Amino acid sequence: MTIAPARRVAFEVVRRVFEDDAYADRVFANVSTELDERDRALAQRIAYGTVQRARTIDHGIEELGGRALRKLDPPVRAALRISGFQFAWSEAPAHAVADDAVELVRAAGLERATKFTNAVVRRLADGFQELVASLPEGALKESYPDWVFDVWVRDWGFEEALELARAQNAPPPLDDYRGVSRGSRLAAEAVAARPGERVLDACAAPGNKTMLLVGDVTAVEVNETRARLLAERVPANVRVVNADVRELAERSFDRALVDAPCSGLGVLNRRPDLRWRARPLPDLQLELLRAAADRLRPGGTVVYSVCTINADENEDVVDACGLDIVPLGEEWPEFAHPKRPEFLLTTPHRHATSGFFVARLAK
Ligand SMILES: C[S@@+](CC[C@H](N)C(=O)[O-])C[C@H]1O[C@@H](n2cnc3c(N)ncnc32)[C@H](O)[C@@H]1O
Repeated sequence: MTIAPARRVAFEVVRRVFEDDAYADRVFANVSTELDERDRALAQRIAYGTVQRARTIDHGIEELGGRALRKLDPPVRAALRISGFQFAWSEAPAHAVADDAVELVRAAGLERATKFTNAVVRRLADGFQELVASLPEGALKESYPDWVFDVWVRDWGFEEALELARAQNAPPPLDDYRGVSRGSRLAAEAVAARPGERVLDACAAPGNKTMLLVGDVTAVEVNETRARLLAERVPANVRVVNADVRELAERSFDRALVDAPCSGLGVLNRRPDLRWRARPLPDLQLELLRAAADRLRPGGTVVYSVCTINADENEDVVDACGLDIVPLGEEWPEFAHPKRPEFLLTTPHRHATSGFFVARLAK
C-alpha cells in the first residue's frame, strides 16, 4: 500500500526531532524537497503541528493506548503522534490516517508492531478528539511545558496566558513569514542612530536588524559561522567582527543594540520545537547589556531587545542593569508594554506578530 507522501515526510521530521534532537525547520527543509507545493504545505502542517502538540498527543496515546510512551518503539511512537495530530486538528479522513500509521511502522521494519499500532491508532481515531475537548484549560491541553504556561499566568493572569498559548499554536502571522516581524523592526528603529554616528550591534547573528541600522555599524557576533554568513550580506555601512562582545576593545559608541539570546517565548509559533528546548537566560542577558553599556560614550544609548514574553528576561533584566530608562511608549503607543509603558512589547495574541520586548537605556 502506498503511504501519502505528506505523512511519510511528517513521520520522518517527527522522528528526527524527537529521536535525534534535530531542529524541525532544518529537517523539514532537507526531507521535503521531493514534494509538490500542496503536499509540502500539508506535510509541514502535520509535522510542525505534531511537534507543537506533542504533550497533548502523548497524553492521549498513554490514556487511550494504555502503555507508557517510553515503552513504545520510536517508529510506533512517531506514527501514533502524527496520527493523533491529524485526528484532533485536521480534516484528514481517519481511516486513511490510521492505515498509513500501520504502513509507516511496517516500512520501518517493525512488522511485529503493526498489530499493536493498528489497535492503538483506531482507539485514537475514535476517542482522541473528545479526550482533548474534555481536558481542563491549561498547559496540557494547549501543549506547553508547565513552566512556560506558569510564567505567563504569573505575568498576565490565566485568561491572557491562555490567549497567548493559543495564539502560538496557530500558524505564524504573515509578516513573520517574510522574516521581519514588527517587533524586530521596532528594536532596530528604537536605536534611532543618525548618519555618521558609531553604532554597536552587540549580538548581530545573520539577522535582519543589522540591515536596518543607520550609522557606522560594528556588528559583533561570537559564533564564527554566523559572523561569516553575516559578513557575506551586509551593506557598506556595516563592519562585521567575530568576537565575544564582552571582550571587544572598541569603546565610545554613540548607540548600541543588544538583541540578546533568550528563551524565545515570543516566537514559539515560528519554531515548533522551541517550546521543548527553551531556557531563560537572564544572567547572560544582563552581562551582554552591561558589556554594551560599558562601550558607550557618556550620554550614549543602548536598546535591549529579546524575542520573549517573560518578565524574568525582559523588565527584570533592564531593572537590574542600573541604567536610566529612556521611555519608548509615547513614540509607539500601540506597542507600549501594558504594565510598564516605558517599554515596548509586541505580542502574538494582541498584535498578530511575534512577541518582542524592547527597552532603551542611557548611560
Ligand atoms: C537573538 S540572536 C540575534 C538575532 C539578530 N540580531 C537578528 O536581528 O535576527 C543572538 C545572537 O547573539 C550571539 N551572541 C551570544 N553571545 C554573544 C556574545 N557574548 N558576543 C557576541 N554575540 C553573542 C548569538 O550567537 C546569536 O547569534
